[in-house]
Amino acid sequence: MCGIVGYTGPQSAITPLIEGLRRLEYRGYDSAGIALGTSGALFIEKRAGKLTNLEGSLPANMPVVHSGIGHTRWATHGGPTDRNAHPHTDNEGKLAVIHNGIIENYSELKAELQSRGHEFSSDTDTESVAHLLSELRKSHGGDLTAAMLDAVKRLRGSFTLVAVHADAPEVIVGVRRNSPLVVGLGDGENFMASDVAAFIDYTKRAVELGQDEIITMTPAGISIIGLDGKAVVPKEYAITWDSASAQKGGYSHFMLKEIFEQPKAVADTLIGRLTDNGKIELDELHMSEAEIKALKKIVVIACGTAYHAGMIAKYVIEKWAKISVEVEIASEYRYRDPIIDSNTLVIAISQSGETMDTLMAIRHAKAAGARVLAICNTNSSTIPRESDAVLYTHAGPEIAVASTKALLTQIVAVDLIGLHLAQVRGELTDAQVRDLYNEMLELPGKIEQILETVEPLRALTRTFAKSETVLFIGRNIGYPVVLEGALKLKELAYIHAEGFAGGELKHGSIALIDAEKGTPVIAILPSGSDHSLDEKMLSNIQEVKARGARVIVIAHEGAEVVGAEHIIRIPACSPLFQPILATVPLQVFAYEMAIARGNDVDQPRNLAKSVTVE
Ligand code: G6P
Repeated sequence: MCGIVGYTGPQSAITPLIEGLRRLEYRGYDSAGIALGTSGALFIEKRAGKLTNLEGSLPANMPVVHSGIGHTRWATHGGPTDRNAHPHTDNEGKLAVIHNGIIENYSELKAELQSRGHEFSSDTDTESVAHLLSELRKSHGGDLTAAMLDAVKRLRGSFTLVAVHADAPEVIVGVRRNSPLVVGLGDGENFMASDVAAFIDYTKRAVELGQDEIITMTPAGISIIGLDGKAVVPKEYAITWDSASAQKGGYSHFMLKEIFEQPKAVADTLIGRLTDNGKIELDELHMSEAEIKALKKIVVIACGTAYHAGMIAKYVIEKWAKISVEVEIASEYRYRDPIIDSNTLVIAISQSGETMDTLMAIRHAKAAGARVLAICNTNSSTIPRESDAVLYTHAGPEIAVASTKALLTQIVAVDLIGLHLAQVRGELTDAQVRDLYNEMLELPGKIEQILETVEPLRALTRTFAKSETVLFIGRNIGYPVVLEGALKLKELAYIHAEGFAGGELKHGSIALIDAEKGTPVIAILPSGSDHSLDEKMLSNIQEVKARGARVIVIAHEGAEVVGAEHIIRIPACSPLFQPILATVPLQVFAYEMAIARGNDVDQPRNLAKSVTVE
């Protein structure tokens, strides 16, 4: 939610700032702005809309200055207008601040600052920080770091704040609380950003800022202090993602590129997980055999697409490891009184590792005494840092707002956890585990096969472009898959889409099918030997067809299908692995619908990839 960049060094700052913002646009794209630190005054430009609007408004003869800050916004307080775009300044226009998060006590601060003569020009919570910092800086004789330290003590909420002052423009000061901020260490230059993607072209050396830590950055180096004012030793790490993986690489959209990266993402997440003696190797869990055997319950918490991976975890872990699994929407979980004891494992699933709802839910679970395991795609992000253990997925950077490859790797991760728990608890034999793992190793090739034969599906999808409603039905582990199919379609095509358990549709929602319009219904035929389940789905297909639906069925090769107007074939696999394959055509369907309807695929309206507000 909002992307932040800062630069100080010998380069003309506009280049790393604009490039950085482009890499961070996935975090929000309601408006964008920059403040460049020219000596004695600030050059500020900000525009509603996407980054290109800001670029278009920059003068041809931009001043060459060597430090500055930049922001791309996902609006919370105050609509997405020029006026509300960041940076926000004090009344002298000499101090600029950018912000990611929410200042919960902003109205109280605003009233206080107004009573002392500060004039506000936006509807944002952020502007109160600019005025507050300005006052505090003066009281500290021009020391912006000291001002930030005092300001933070007055603020409630979640925030990353980065500020610059015209009188010492080479000094950039930042702070974070429940919101990300990473520092890039260069040679005679330094960077700050919400995500390393913003500066990986310039440096691979990074420092993650801890909670409530304040950083002062100059071209010569960085210094970090805690809320107590004491120095903190920076913890440096190497960035392993490369710049090429954050680029489109010849694809028309990041989403398409990421769909096509799925075979590799799945293979990378699976690799090396079976030891020579046939055991699933998941040391990252940090759980002894005795602790695994004593487990009574697993609670999975997540949001959005990651929540669907959580639903899939329920099917696999209950089936293989025989442990009861509850799946909870993170934003709901924290407002309940969870029943947790030392034999409960909480698994938090998050691509970004920064989703505020999930973060708050794990804090809630930890406070209730749970052990928390994170499944995450982003190294050193907040959720893994606050968890007891982390299993990283290896999807690489996911830039498109609609999640694709991250989901598939999350499913692989929950499958691995299921196999490991089942093996340790003696619910599956080593031979069974080896067979299942070996079958998983075939999945990347099968995804590849689906992608190689995707063109007819793309053409078919375009014929549905004018649909007002699309329904999805699935049974058993196909149910979370259709929920995901519907979510993808909503977020990308902006049309009404809903996923249903195949047996549930007839209990009311079947009324949505409009015979005159031929409402499209996409059905997933369950795979495997349990024919009662696929027969029931075939009956559900007949029910919707009889009411005038146009039915598309996703079915394994060789499966008998009756009642479909179109059949999309996917390679055969064991029932519990079906989501890893069946999800792919649904992603392609949503992608193609968005294109056909002229929508922005990578940056759908109203959304952001990383939602760092509750
Ligand atoms: C946002 C994104 C979704 C994502 C969800 C959870 O809403 O638009 O695509 O699934 O956040 O994100 P996370 O990073 O926690 O997986």
